Amino acid sequence: MLEGKKLAVIGVGKLGEALISGLLKNGALKAEDVCGTVGRENSISRVREKLPIAVTLDNKEAVKGKDLILLAVKPQNMAKVLLEIKDVIEDHQLLISVAASVSTAFVEEKLGRPAPVVRAMPNTPSVINAGMTGLCGGSQAKPEHLKACEAIFRCVGETVFVDESLMDAVTALSASGPAYLYVVIESLAEAGVKLGIPRETSTLLAAQTMYGAAKMVLESKAHPALLKDTVTTPAGCTIDGLMELEEGKLRVTLIKAVVKAAERARELVHR
Ligand SMILES: NC(=O)c1ccc[n+]([C@@H]2O[C@H](COP(=O)([O-])OP(=O)(O)OC[C@H]3O[C@@H](n4cnc5c(N)ncnc54)[C@H](OP(=O)(O)O)[C@@H]3O)[C@@H](O)[C@H]2O)c1
Repeated sequence: MLEGKKLAVIGVGKLGEALISGLLKNGALKAEDVCGTVGRENSISRVREKLPIAVTLDNKEAVKGKDLILLAVKPQNMAKVLLEIKDVIEDHQLLISVAASVSTAFVEEKLGRPAPVVRAMPNTPSVINAGMTGLCGGSQAKPEHLKACEAIFRCVGETVFVDESLMDAVTALSASGPAYLYVVIESLAEAGVKLGIPRETSTLLAAQTMYGAAKMVLESKAHPALLKDTVTTPAGCTIDGLMELEEGKLRVTLIKAVVKAAERARELVHR
C-alpha cells in the first residue's frame, strides 16, 4: 500500500519519531523517501542522531513532491503550519493529522479549499509497536486515502476506524488510557510492596499480569467478564479482592475518568 510513496512529517517530536521509526523498521518506506521538519534549529541534530532521514526547518520545501504529509505538531501550532504550507499543497497530496482536538474541517478551512484529510489518534505505546490508533476520514478522504493511513499506523500497532464525532472519545480512552493503566500498575505494585514483595519484583508481577490479561482479551475474543469468572473460584480469594474493587467503585471511577477526559478534549477544540 505504501510502496514507492514519499512522506513528509511536519513536526518530528516524540510521536513523529515513533511513527517514522516504525515505518522504516517495518520496511514500509525507505529512509530516502521520508523527510521531516522541526521547529527549532537545535532539534535538527536530535532527529539526525536517531533517524536516517533528511531533516529541515523548511515546511514548504519538505512537502514538495510528497504523496503523504503527516502533521505531527502540537495542536496550537497547527493553524500556523497549515497557513504556511497551503500555497504549496497539491490536490493529490494526502494530509494526515495526529493533533488532538483538531478536526478535519479545521484543516480544510485553514488550507482554504477542500482537500483529502485523514485524522488519526495514536497512543504512546506506538513507540514499541504496541500502539492503538483511531482513524477517521474528512469530507474528501477516499478509500485509498484511508487504506494508506491504515497502512502507516499498522506499522506501529492496531488501528480502528470510527466516525469523526467519536474521536474525542477515542482520545480519552486509548490515547489517554496508558496513563490510567500506569496508575493501576503502580497501585498493584504498591500492594505487593505492602505485602513484602520487593518493588522491582512487584512491578514486574503487576505489569506482566496486565499485559497477560490484555492479551487474553485480544486473543480469546471472550467477554472480559467471562475471563474474570475463570479466575474467580467459588469461596476463593479473588472474589474477596473483587468485592473490595466494587466497594471502591473502580468501574464507575474508570468510566467517569474517560467521560471527563472526553469532555476536556471537546473543550480543547482548536479553532
Ligand atoms: N504523544 C502522544 O502520546 C500523542 C498521542 C496522540 C496524538 N498526539 C499528537 O501528536 C502531536 C505531537 O505530539 P508530540 O507528543 O510528538 O509533541 P512534541 O514531542 O512536542 O513534538 C512536536 C514537534 O513539532 C515541532 N514543531 C513545532 N513547531 C513547528 C513548526 N512550526 N514546524 C515544524 N515543526 C514544528 C517541534 O519541534 P522542536 O522539537 O524543534 O520543538 C517538535 O519536534 C500533537 O498534536 C499531539 O496532540 C500525541
